[in-house]
Amino acid sequence: MAKPKTVFVCQNCGAESPKWLGKCPACGEWNTYVEEIKQDATAPPLWSTAATEKRATPQKIQDIATEAYLRYGTGDGELDRVLGGGVVSGSLILLGGEPGIGKSTLLLQFAVSVQDQTVFYISGEESPRQIKMRAERIGISSDRCFLLAETSIETIFNQLAQTRADYVIIDSIQTLHTSRIDAVPGSISQVRDCTGQLMQYAKQNEVTVFLIGHINKEGSIAGPKVLEHMVDTVLQFEGDRNLTYRILRTIKNRFGSTSELGIYRMVEKGLQEVKNPSEILLSDQQSQSSGVAIGASMEGNRPLLIEVQALVSPATYGTPQRSTTGFDVKRLHMLLAVLERRLGIRLSTQDVFLNITGGIRVHDTSLDLAVCAAVYSSYHDLILP
Ligand code: TYD
Ligand code: MG
Repeated sequence: MAKPKTVFVCQNCGAESPKWLGKCPACGEWNTYVEEIKQDATAPPLWSTAATEKRATPQKIQDIATEAYLRYGTGDGELDRVLGGGVVSGSLILLGGEPGIGKSTLLLQFAVSVQDQTVFYISGEESPRQIKMRAERIGISSDRCFLLAETSIETIFNQLAQTRADYVIIDSIQTLHTSRIDAVPGSISQVRDCTGQLMQYAKQNEVTVFLIGHINKEGSIAGPKVLEHMVDTVLQFEGDRNLTYRILRTIKNRFGSTSELGIYRMVEKGLQEVKNPSEILLSDQQSQSSGVAIGASMEGNRPLLIEVQALVSPATYGTPQRSTTGFDVKRLHMLLAVLERRLGIRLSTQDVFLNITGGIRVHDTSLDLAVCAAVYSSYHDLILP
C-alpha cells in the first residue's frame, strides 16, 4: 500500500507546507505547524440533495426571487439586537468566548425558550444529564428541544435526516470530527471541514446553525480566521468571569450591523438581559474622587455612558508602568504622550493605571477625551464635576 501523503498545516491560519516550519510565513505565528494526512479533495460530500443540482445551474439575476430574509425573533432582546433584529433562517452563527463565560448557558437558554420550532442541542462536551440539570437551573422547559451527546458529524447528519430541526446548536465545533479526515478533533482541517459541511447543510435545508467556538490564548477563535470567513455571523461573548456582567458583541454580520452590543447579567437562574446598560457601567459611589471621568460612547444604535478610572502615581522602579483593563495600552501611550507634550505634565516619571468599569472593552475613540480627563484629574488630584 502506498504511504499516505502528509502535509504540514498551520493551526492558526490553515496555510500548508510540504515540510515543517517553525514560523508560519502566512500569518507569522510560531510553532503552529502540525503534520496531517493529505486529503483527497475530490471526496464526495456526505449527502447530496436535489437542491445541490438546482443550484448548479446559473440563473439570471433578475429571475432570482428576493423575498426579504426570513427573520425570527429569538425571544431574547439582546441576542436579537446583536443579530441585527433576529436570526436569519439558513444562517451559520459562530459564538466565541472564554471558557466559563456562559456560551453554553446562552444558547441552551435560547434552545429551551423557542416554543413552536424544533431545536437540536448537540453537545460534545457535556452529557444530556448535565445539560438537563443546567436547563432546570434556568427554569424553562420545552417539548421541542432535543439533546444529543455526539461528536461524529456523520451520526449528527443521520439524526438530522430522521428528525427535522429548525435550529441546530453545536457545542462546540472543536469537539466535532468527520471520518473523511484523518486528524484529531479540534485540528484546523477537522474544524474547517465540519464547518464547511454544516454550512452547506444550513444553506440547503434553511436551518439556522449555531456553533460554539473556543478561543485560544490570544483571544481569537481557535481554528480561527478560516472559521470566521466561512460563517455568516460571528458573535463574541466577553466580560470578566468574576463579575456578573457579560457583553455580547458582533464581530461580523452578513445580515446586519457589526457594532451592536448586548449586555447580560449572569445570575443564579441563567443570563438576564440588562435593559439600561449605562446604569451598570457607572459606579456612582466613586464619582466624588479624583481620577474618574465619564465619557459617552456610541455602540451600535445605543449611546452608552462609560466610566473611566485612572490612577497616576510616582514610579518607584526605573521604568514607569502603564496598565489598562478594557482599553488599548498602545492608545494610552499615545494619549499620555499628547498630554505630556501639550500640557507639559511629567507623566514619564509616573505609573499610570487605567480601568474601564463594568468589564467592557472599548474600541471607540470617542472615549479618548474621558481617558485624558481621568489621567489629568488623577495627576492633579482634582475632582471632575
Ligand atoms: P457556561 O455556559 O458553562 O460557559 P461556557 O460554555 O462558555 O464555558 O457557563 C458556566 C458559568 O456560568 C459557571 O461558572 C456557572 C455560571 N452559571 C450561573 O451563574 N448561573 C446559571 O444559571 C448557570 C446555568 C451558570
Ligand atoms: Mg460550554
